[in-house]
Amino acid sequence: MAANAAKQIRERLREVKDPEIGRSIADLNMIRSVEVSEGRATIQIALTVTGCPLSTRIRGEIEQKAKEVEGIREVEVHFTTMSDEERNQLNQQLRQGHAAQADPFPKTKVVAVGSGKGGVGKSTVTVNLAFALKSLGYSVAILDADVYGFSIPHLMGLTGVKPTVVGEMIMPPERDGVRMISAGALYGEDQPLVWRGPIISRMIQQFMTDVYWADPDLLLIDLPPGTGDAALTVMQTLPKGNLLMVTTPQSSAAHVAGRIGHMAEMVHFRLVGLIENMSYFVCDKCGERHYIFGQGESEKLARQLEIPVLGELPLQTEVRVCSDQGIPAVLVDDALCENYEQIAERLTAQLGLRQRVVS
Ligand SMILES: Nc1ncnc2c1ncn2[C@@H]1O[C@H](COP(=O)(O)OP(=O)(O)O)[C@@H](O)[C@H]1O
Ligand SMILES: [Mg+2]
Repeated sequence: MAANAAKQIRERLREVKDPEIGRSIADLNMIRSVEVSEGRATIQIALTVTGCPLSTRIRGEIEQKAKEVEGIREVEVHFTTMSDEERNQLNQQLRQGHAAQADPFPKTKVVAVGSGKGGVGKSTVTVNLAFALKSLGYSVAILDADVYGFSIPHLMGLTGVKPTVVGEMIMPPERDGVRMISAGALYGEDQPLVWRGPIISRMIQQFMTDVYWADPDLLLIDLPPGTGDAALTVMQTLPKGNLLMVTTPQSSAAHVAGRIGHMAEMVHFRLVGLIENMSYFVCDKCGERHYIFGQGESEKLARQLEIPVLGELPLQTEVRVCSDQGIPAVLVDDALCENYEQIAERLTAQLGLRQRVVS
């Protein structure tokens, strides 16, 4: 009877996932023992790291699942930590099928977000687009390749959240299911990063190979402005990558953006489209659109590069305020969310992703 109950509990525990890795604790060999005696279950779980911050969550789920088994009235959960050897084994398991391949993202559509100049809203667009894609039902992650000028942790409200490291594998911090890695998550906000090109390249490559991304549908890469080492590394490392350009209507911004477009073509990166940010301002008195910076330049660039304009985004005080507060604006502004979802739909259509049904 007790043995049977223990077996049933193990069966139920298959449904409990390690919150960081996103896979069943049974598959990850984390269940050490399950013993049942007189309605009391004692369960030993080996965590990947000591003092895992998410252990309370795992404990709650385990207790709940175990109590679903008939006759179980009490559940005791004990945590231990994996040995180095076990962690290495887990690493191997997580890397399986990836390390050996030339493409670090065999199952993921990679979209690098680039611009000619800084300050056009590239990082803001990257984060909001990620959450719009997520709300359409896609799994999304963000790689911040702007190593010196990182801003993704702040924009996602993840400042100061350190990734957990399992052996040599980095578990990326997440917000509402969107994972991200950034130099900011590894080194803290105030530390000046003074690396030369090759170190930047190596770091970005590590972000691709040593972070547990869990095969998302889409990976958005926030590039630093321009055509420097980071952009080149990303494009050369990812044979099937796509480039999404962000411009503003100012002719200079559109003109400089052309350079990164041409660079992408040179390394056979696919240009997937262009988003014009800060296109217009909607007057809160008369409701009319004002094209403060002029009109037509981004469209001209898109025609030259033979890529579609995926959308125009307004210049909006709320966007700046949300960015400052670390809240993706699409999560609080319905009209903006709609705008971004439209862009997200066009993007996924361009990428040939099947439409998702959101449950
Ligand atoms: N559509 C917008 N409306 C208002 N402010 C914006 C908009 N897009 C971006 N911003 C603001 O412009 C600044 C630069 O944006 P950021 O995303 O950091 O640019 P980049 O990554 O291209 O350097 C930030 O303060 C951001 O809040
Ligand atoms: Mg930026």
